Amino acid sequence: MEENQIQEVVTMPRIGDPAPKFEAITTQGKINFPDDYSGEWVILFSHPADFTPVCTSEFMTFATLEEQFNKANCKLVGLSIDGLYSHIAWLRTIKEKIEYKGMKNVEVNFPLIEDIKMDVAKKYGMIQPNEDGTKAVRAVFFIDPKGIIRAIIYYPLSLGRNFDEIYRVVVALQTADKFSVAMPADWRPGDDVIVPPAGSCGVAKKRMEGEAKDTHCYDWFFCTKKLDKDTVLKSILKK
Ligand code: BEZ
Repeated sequence: MEENQIQEVVTMPRIGDPAPKFEAITTQGKINFPDDYSGEWVILFSHPADFTPVCTSEFMTFATLEEQFNKANCKLVGLSIDGLYSHIAWLRTIKEKIEYKGMKNVEVNFPLIEDIKMDVAKKYGMIQPNEDGTKAVRAVFFIDPKGIIRAIIYYPLSLGRNFDEIYRVVVALQTADKFSVAMPADWRPGDDVIVPPAGSCGVAKKRMEGEAKDTHCYDWFFCTKKLDKDTVLKSILKK
């Protein structure tokens, strides 16, 4: 590095960290993040740019699924390094002109943050210069009702997100918290869950000896139990 070069400090919030605080202007007015979402789950996600095709397909999908996320006590907040008027014009174009995969007249009702100065994007490590120095990557931060980051997914500019997976993560994290269990690969509501959560395996011996009902141990470190779909959904979804 040259002597006079100033190295920029890049912050990357991690799983388990409190979500960095910020105030911002959005398409739905000012927000104070994450405090405005205290008591709810919130997904903060970034997209590279307004008026681009992959982002348009993602916004139409997210807007169509918004009610489903809200029913799981989860709000959505978007962000890109564009200004408010660009956001408004893009969302209006989506509503008035774009019909895609059976979705049309799609209204985006969740807030979309303007972040021209990249203040928020930098705080959240959404600028990844080797991918693009002036556009946010497709980041997804899952933040719990106490404002703690619980999961993070990053996608590159060229790949649209999988919204089934994003919803699965919201439901799985809430289920893990409510029932003190962990989720195996590809878990979906109705599938067996892991008990006890990884790390505390003392109880497993008793289970292997047949003392615990509804539990199956594959070995001393790997036990699962049934958790039926209705119980999961009733505990998570609002009526
Ligand atoms: C898109 O959303 O289509 C896109 C955005 C930035 C770079 C490449 C693709």
